[in-house]
Amino acid sequence: MRKPFIVANWKMHKTVQESVDFVKAIKDHLPDPDKVEVGIAGQAFALYSMHEAAAKSGLRIIAQNAAPQLSGPFTGEISMRGLSQAGVSHVMLGHIERRRLFNETNEAVHQKVETAIMTGLTPIICTDETMVQREMNGEIHYVLKQLQSVLHGVSLDQIRDIIISYEPSWAVGVGQRANTALAEEGCRQIRRMIADIYTYEIADKIRILYGGSVNPKNIQEIMSKPDIDGVLIGRASLDVDNFLAMVNYQQQTK
Ligand code: 13P
Repeated sequence: MRKPFIVANWKMHKTVQESVDFVKAIKDHLPDPDKVEVGIAGQAFALYSMHEAAAKSGLRIIAQNAAPQLSGPFTGEISMRGLSQAGVSHVMLGHIERRRLFNETNEAVHQKVETAIMTGLTPIICTDETMVQREMNGEIHYVLKQLQSVLHGVSLDQIRDIIISYEPSWAVGVGQRANTALAEEGCRQIRRMIADIYTYEIADKIRILYGGSVNPKNIQEIMSKPDIDGVLIGRASLDVDNFLAMVNYQQQTK
């Protein structure tokens, strides 16, 4: 059984104080961590304070990005070793906004995956595609190419704990809508790719998250899909009540 993982991606929102207040407001209302895992990807400067505020709640503290190098003269970059010691458990790598706005390449994401594994952080590897790419190919070859380059050299043992996300550009951000059927289809194809690159057993165990316009109204339907093991939530995760409604989606009446 793959444990559901509900992740807030706050992007460039919230100060330290706002982040800590949010964690304090939700931490006693989270679902049983044995049944549903919950995490927040806050801004780097707030992560340690969020970790302290989360205390023993089981809330995962997640970084949105980090440098591929372990340490050294890289002004302005964030080290994974430092993140790991600040209570961070996971790091998102290759989010669509990093790729499109900051020219992050598959090669860069690949190096970051290796560094994350080395420093004990669990990578959440993000894949994306545009509608044009999807329509041109019928299948998601673009995502396959991303995964093949990014996972190059990642061993059978290492892939087990890695998390993958599928965040198509036609569903991410303002003015977009989630299409549950396409979301499931994308995650299903990624699982098939993992079976091709690794084994069926790995593909069956690995968690694949969907991201793009998830909200309290559609989360239950999205999470009911067999190949979607969790979600990455942007806008709708910024509000305490909305976030609590989503992490407790299993309690929503049908
Ligand atoms: P939205 O939920 O705002 O569409 O953002 C999705 C996303 O980018 C999550 O990583």
